[in-house]
Amino acid sequence: MQAKPQIVEVGDRAALRLAVDVLSAGGLAALPTETVYGLCALAHSDAAVRRVFAAKGRPAHNPLIVHLESAAAADDIAALGKTGRALGRAFWPGPLTLVAPCRSGAPVAAAARGGGAHVAVRVPAAAFFRQVISAVGPLVAPSANRSGRVSATSAAAVAVELGGRVDLIVDGGPSDIGVESTVVDVSDRPKILRPGAICDVAIAAIVGPVASTGEAEPVRSPGMLASHYAPRARLRLDVAPQDVRVGEGWLAFGPIVDDAPAGPTVQLSRAGDLDEAARRLYAALRALDDAGVETIAVSPIPARGIGIAIRDRLERAAAPRPNDKTPGEAP
Ligand code: TXA
Ligand code: MG
Repeated sequence: MQAKPQIVEVGDRAALRLAVDVLSAGGLAALPTETVYGLCALAHSDAAVRRVFAAKGRPAHNPLIVHLESAAAADDIAALGKTGRALGRAFWPGPLTLVAPCRSGAPVAAAARGGGAHVAVRVPAAAFFRQVISAVGPLVAPSANRSGRVSATSAAAVAVELGGRVDLIVDGGPSDIGVESTVVDVSDRPKILRPGAICDVAIAAIVGPVASTGEAEPVRSPGMLASHYAPRARLRLDVAPQDVRVGEGWLAFGPIVDDAPAGPTVQLSRAGDLDEAARRLYAALRALDDAGVETIAVSPIPARGIGIAIRDRLERAAAPRPNDKTPGEAP
């Protein structure tokens, strides 16, 4: 792997050939999708998939999403069933991931499934990404960040996160949606494992009532979320403007009021538009980290539509970190 990745723009005539060359040689390419940037490798290659885990520092038991060209190709590797097929018809190509039993003999590296019997599949909408899949076949693509950190929604953020750990970065500009796909387990009654761009109401409109659970990662003690999507700074959630403390960063949502705090502020959406807030979320967290604040006070975000996904990511970012001492423990 090179010390510094090559960065090429999506509109560059050489971009497709470069991405195809890197991936078919078993390398890693970070490509834009409509949700966030993905760290891509050939889904059938155990060696390439292991490189993805190493580059991200991701635990081997946390499986990856396989990205395919079409719903039919997804159903060839995952037994989607009636529910899964209905969701695929409604939302693919797009920001939906389905988890279902992996069909025997499917060309998916065991490492990509975290060693399990189920596989996650998604048919992305981003045009360049689809061209690459057509040329090289199915790709695993976790978000292009170090494990536990904020996802990347720009090529520059990928370079900060993964630098020399990736062979090529394709710059497609800022991500359209800005938060990751909705992950739905369709192996039994449909269950949302990770809220995302497609909300529970939209899913229920296709398949009826859906359950929600935490993300597929093990939750060690009840009520304690695993830290994820985390900037360096600590987060305080649902903070009213007058309660932002001196020296804190402020992640604002909605109109800035007269008594707004004076510290570093990033506005997610002055108009209170949740889609705009989702697009700006991860870049805003990075900007506040860059401003050097120790804590970030976050305005209340409504829990509807994509706001549910925004709140989920912020709650995980605010969860206790692996090195945190439990309350009462000596420092
Ligand atoms: O929008 C997205 O989904 C982006 C873009 C690049 O496609 N990808 C993404 O991948 O967010 P990643 O690896 O960062 O998150 C995948 C999520 C994780 O929570 C993982 O645990 C879950 O999907 N997942 C993957 N395979 C699974 C499986 N077999 N069973 C249950 N959960 C699974
Ligand atoms: Mg991720």
